[in-house]
Amino acid sequence: MKLLGTSLGKATWLLAVIILIVAVVFNYFDDSPSVKYTSMAEDLKSLEETFRHQNKSCFILGASGETGRMLLQELLERNIFSKITLIGRRQLTFEDKAYENLVQEVVDFEKLDDYAAVFKGHDVGYCCLGTTRAKAGADGFVRVDHDYVLKSAELAKAGGCSQFHLESSRGADKTSNFLYLKVKGEVEAEIEALGFDRLAIYRPGVLLVDRQESRPGEWVIRKFFGAVSAVCSTSMAIPIQAVAKAIVSNTLLQPEQKTEILENKDITSLGKSKAK
Ligand SMILES: NC(=O)c1ccc[n+]([C@@H]2O[C@H](COP(=O)([O-])OP(=O)(O)OC[C@H]3O[C@@H](n4cnc5c(N)ncnc54)[C@H](OP(=O)(O)O)[C@@H]3O)[C@@H](O)[C@H]2O)c1
Repeated sequence: MKLLGTSLGKATWLLAVIILIVAVVFNYFDDSPSVKYTSMAEDLKSLEETFRHQNKSCFILGASGETGRMLLQELLERNIFSKITLIGRRQLTFEDKAYENLVQEVVDFEKLDDYAAVFKGHDVGYCCLGTTRAKAGADGFVRVDHDYVLKSAELAKAGGCSQFHLESSRGADKTSNFLYLKVKGEVEAEIEALGFDRLAIYRPGVLLVDRQESRPGEWVIRKFFGAVSAVCSTSMAIPIQAVAKAIVSNTLLQPEQKTEILENKDITSLGKSKAK
């Protein structure tokens, strides 16, 4: 028993040392934020005011998911849109009064062309849609993370949407040999080619969240990066609240370029900024 206790103690110390080393290494190699803005995050309060008075509308794809749910909560709290539409495959129920003015549109993602009207007349579109290969198989993953996402963006653009915010992933790269990263990179490029007035692509690392759905493999990775992130912020992982805050704050800012790619560090830094 005593031997077991000593071994466990040693293992804990070893794990703590590994976490510390990984944190230091990641921090050393992290790039500084890469997106430049003409307006600064310090002005958030007045930017929120100005934005609010423009009576804009937005839609969210994936509002039933972890990021989408948090994004919706953040948008409602900051109250910057006069109308929010949730587009999803099922009707969602909310108990809080704050959610009572939402519009919900239930669509069949296999027949999105039949729902073109649902995508009409929104100023801003947010996409937090996605599945996993483990859940949907390789074809199902491509169907959701590429086909549904791209078709939705096309319909939104055709419907007059000028600003599109896409939650992609760290490492997205259309030339990658990994299906996940390749698909993410491809869809980023194809949406960029649609020519939105503004396209914001978010590439978060591992999302730190107590996920409602059980994903054992992801759980282990999350716990490890959660511990590393507690020591210092890295380019590898990010709390989901920070992603939602960053997306909303970024909506208010004016980037210098038409397409922005926000890497994990950019999202982390924007996710910390608050309206004063
Ligand atoms: N997990 C990570 O650590 C991580 C890291 C970086 C980037 N990302 C990316 O970030 C995005 C959001 O991730 P998340 O973890 O917040 O998502 P999530 O919790 O898995 O939610 C996914 C959303 O997509 C919808 N969806 C899934 N399959 C669908 C289908 N066949 N038809 C229609 N809707 C479908 C879900 O709707 P239902 O509720 O109806 O299923 C839900 O609203 C994804 O693109 C993901 O790849 C994730």
